[in-house]
Amino acid sequence: MSKLALVTGATSGIGKAFAERFAADGYDLITVGRRQDRLDQFAADHPDVKVRTVAADLSTEEGIDAVASYCVDEPLEMLVNNAGVSHYMPLADLPADKARDLVNVKVLAPTQLMRAAVGGMQRRGSGTILNVAGMIAFSGPADKSVMPRRAAYAGTLAYLVAMTQTLAAEVEDSGVKVGVVCPGVVATEFHSSQGLDMSAVPRMSADDLVTGALRGLELGETVSAPGVEDYQLLQDVFTADLAAFGGQSPRLATRYTT
Ligand SMILES: NC(=O)c1ccc[n+]([C@@H]2O[C@H](COP(=O)([O-])OP(=O)(O)OC[C@H]3O[C@@H](n4cnc5c(N)ncnc54)[C@H](OP(=O)(O)O)[C@@H]3O)[C@@H](O)[C@H]2O)c1
Repeated sequence: MSKLALVTGATSGIGKAFAERFAADGYDLITVGRRQDRLDQFAADHPDVKVRTVAADLSTEEGIDAVASYCVDEPLEMLVNNAGVSHYMPLADLPADKARDLVNVKVLAPTQLMRAAVGGMQRRGSGTILNVAGMIAFSGPADKSVMPRRAAYAGTLAYLVAMTQTLAAEVEDSGVKVGVVCPGVVATEFHSSQGLDMSAVPRMSADDLVTGALRGLELGETVSAPGVEDYQLLQDVFTADLAAFGGQSPRLATRYTT
């Protein structure tokens, strides 16, 4: 029986590249996105694999619930939480509906889909969950000169990194793998769809990003970063995170007492 992968945001860019890779590797697919015409086209272009399309808006509770039911009912071997929107702008300018969409698509949907999928994977002793975050997850300490502004977007990516790391430890030794890939700038529709021209910026291809993400899982990297040559840079971040976490105590730190 073929293995089954569910990919969100499979209508373009990185998600489509994941779906193409899985199809080439013989997976059956459940592809998710809002644009049914693109989902249909993908299925028509891949007649050798079984492709089920789910047109769902992951910024809505109904859309999330509809996709989550596939995660519960189907024996997924692979879940890729990739769908995303950018909505780069200073927080005060970010319309409330866009803030809601961003958090729903990048935080609520992956959380609910992971929650729905992980129990079955644990029971079967097999399965992989891969989240797509971004290097911007690590950009919090950057100063004001770093543009464009994107506090909410950065926050959603940092959430995915911390959640993935914590869940990976939670399912350790269960046969389930959990990872998060952190792209830098990738050549997709992500920026052009909100009117940003990134064509002058060197960008990774979506195909290379997928290669890096899947190889990162094989290497045992819970957090992979296909554009970072020196992985020690990330290890140093995690070591520093744990040092700060372990450095706390119930006593008020002296610098706050004077
Ligand atoms: N490109 C980059 O430079 C870059 C860098 C770091 C991280 N990332 C991350 O990579 C992921 C994929 O982005 P991409 O670069 O491939 O961009 P993209 O080409 O714009 O693709 C975004 C995908 O997300 C889907 N999507 C957006 N809103 C959705 C919604 N409400 N419900 C369901 N699906 C939705 C879109 O499908 P429909 O429009 O059909 O719904 C589309 O398939 C994103 O999560 C992004 O945060 C990208």
